[in-house]
Amino acid sequence: MGSNQLLDHFGRFHDYLRISLTDSCNFRCFYCMPDGPTNCLSSGHLMNPDEILHFAKIFTNLGVSKIRLTGGEPLVRKEFPLILKKLSSLPVELTLTTNGVFLDKQLDLIKDCGVKSINISLDSLNPDTFFKITKRDDFHRVMDNIQLLVDSDLHVKVNAVAVSGLIESELADFIEFTRQRPLHVRFIEFMPFDGNKWSSNKVITAGQMLKLVQSVYDVVKLNDEPHSTAKKFKVVGYEGTFAFITTMSEHFCGDCNRLRITADGKLKNCLFGKEEWDLLAAHRRGEDILPLLVQGVRSKFEKLGGQLNPDYQKISIENINNRSMIKIGG
Ligand code: 5AD
Ligand code: SF4
Repeated sequence: MGSNQLLDHFGRFHDYLRISLTDSCNFRCFYCMPDGPTNCLSSGHLMNPDEILHFAKIFTNLGVSKIRLTGGEPLVRKEFPLILKKLSSLPVELTLTTNGVFLDKQLDLIKDCGVKSINISLDSLNPDTFFKITKRDDFHRVMDNIQLLVDSDLHVKVNAVAVSGLIESELADFIEFTRQRPLHVRFIEFMPFDGNKWSSNKVITAGQMLKLVQSVYDVVKLNDEPHSTAKKFKVVGYEGTFAFITTMSEHFCGDCNRLRITADGKLKNCLFGKEEWDLLAAHRRGEDILPLLVQGVRSKFEKLGGQLNPDYQKISIENINNRSMIKIGG
């Protein structure tokens, strides 16, 4: 049981921490990485492996029971193996979100460190569309690595960002992808972040997607896990499942249990929050980070970082003050 330091003003206990290991990536997905020159953090500004372990220990002592490593792309961080090994000594469920390109190289380590579940970002099952989205030619490597994970009995979730005009023609292919593979496809409603050219007419909602799927398939609703952001379904007789993450059409903030630390060591209490608490700077000054951490948790807004209109059609991206997705860390 956790202490009340991770409890916010709305009675939400935060037992899930997402740690970004880097703000660089081998892909260039438009919805995540702004156009133009990339200015990645220099290594001195990144949390080093011992700092990551130190922060993770503090959070787990306070009651965090699950840690997800994100990026950018976590596997491009040179010290990824060392960081994962260090974190595996903690009593937490460890997991990661990756674009999948380098998974084969790290699979043994990942399994040895007790990781049981991995999220892979894959927005298209068509190699040409994949190239258009990522600007990289790695489709087959990602597909092979997804199969490798499934064959290794890991729990595999495939995250597809759903952008109106792009996803409609892919829905059936993704559903077919679950026919003979016990994996879990999740369509994520397109969310606004700095530099990602979001506009409300590029959102396709879970309701709209579900209708399209139901016009072709016999679909059943499955139970959702506590704190799950995904509304889960399956096609009758298929091995895998599919789900929708409805951030834009129906937020799930009331049940939020997540905190984030950016690669440069700042606490974010919400994906859409503009405030940050600089844990790394405090730590490097020799200060205790607990007061900052508590302040960060207690300042959490009730929903959508206190700045997104719950009616997504009324959101205009110019009025949002936030980082780009790649600098937040997913
Ligand atoms: N909208 C929705 N999902 C996004 N992701 C990244 N940027 C966006 C966005 N703008 C997804 C990635 C990754 C997950 C952490 O978030 O695909 O799988
Ligand atoms: Fe890289 Fe993931 Fe961002 Fe795409 S979404 S650019 S794979 S970090």
